[in-house]
Amino acid sequence: MAAVRELIDKLNTDKTLSKEEWLTVFGGWTDEDRAYAAELARKISQSVFGKKIYIRGIVEFSNVCKNDCLYCGIRCSNKNAQRYRLTDEEILLCCDEGYDYGFRTFVLQSGEDYKAYPPERMADIVRRIKKAHPDCAVTLSLGELERDALLLLKEAGADRYLLRHETANKEHYGKLHPESMSFEHRMNCLKTLKELGYQTGAGIMVGSPYQTNECLADDMLFLADFKPHMIGIGPFLPHKDTPFRDEPAGSYELTLFLLSLCRIMLPRVLLPATTALGTIRPDGREQGVLSGANVIMPNLSPTAVRKKYMLYDGKICTEDSTDACKSCVQARMKRIGYEVEISRGDYK
Ligand code: 5AD
Ligand code: FES
Repeated sequence: MAAVRELIDKLNTDKTLSKEEWLTVFGGWTDEDRAYAAELARKISQSVFGKKIYIRGIVEFSNVCKNDCLYCGIRCSNKNAQRYRLTDEEILLCCDEGYDYGFRTFVLQSGEDYKAYPPERMADIVRRIKKAHPDCAVTLSLGELERDALLLLKEAGADRYLLRHETANKEHYGKLHPESMSFEHRMNCLKTLKELGYQTGAGIMVGSPYQTNECLADDMLFLADFKPHMIGIGPFLPHKDTPFRDEPAGSYELTLFLLSLCRIMLPRVLLPATTALGTIRPDGREQGVLSGANVIMPNLSPTAVRKKYMLYDGKICTEDSTDACKSCVQARMKRIGYEVEISRGDYK
């Protein structure tokens, strides 16, 4: 048997590989290896979750951001971005609408917009959502906050937090972010989230500029060690108003392969087939599920602002309504023999 497939089996047994072994995997995989990993990952996913897919509704409530990440379309120096902020009432209405469509997790995501949405305001929003929908989980994706803010939000009832680490390689991190941002601060924030009892999500973009196989090996080692409850993985996609406008998009196949490897390594992890994966290929999310993903995160934002939350060019679902996305995702899952589940879908 080829070396890579032996290592996939080893990963399945040991739940970790050495850096050398990861470098062998990323340096020499073929489409057959990817198919082998996908089949194994799919079996693992089905044994843990059945053929049920959890859905989370994302409310992108502000695209104002104080940061200037080189890859991101809502970076502060993009003067072409039309900035918007939703009111507390608008955010609550999105959740109410989502609830009626069967969503039991609401993900509140924004740029780092702490001037307009300080922790006290966010805590109040979380309390109001939890009061209106006590059977729902609230996930926050607000960027890097300090411990006291994260604690306040946890006490207000937030259940989960998404903060992709973006890359576990410090040098690579420095090439994707401005000097004002720090690798250590991000990693510390992830640790704090776990300590405070959040179900915590990390993750990366596949094929971000300057990413090497060594970066990917570092990412897998970090994920094996940190054991996040959720992992967000999508291809890097260029945005026309960023310094990375001319960089190539990440590899679709490598994204699927990484999803499978994450599933094999962390069998219970909550693993979304991301919007970026659905953007790079029309059936990307379906193939993500067939490669081991078990979560889909449709958009709950008001259609009027969707086009303005453009992290990368070509983002899907920006013309659609919550109703359309819910039906679309349901039909897509049905077509591949899966079913959308109405539940909070906690990590167990
Ligand atoms: N391509 C793909 N993903 C992106 N993100 C931000 N910009 C891009 C891009 N150009 C991802 C980052 C971030 C998440 C919210 O979106 O990984 O953590
Ligand atoms: Fe939004 Fe298909 S999920 S249109």
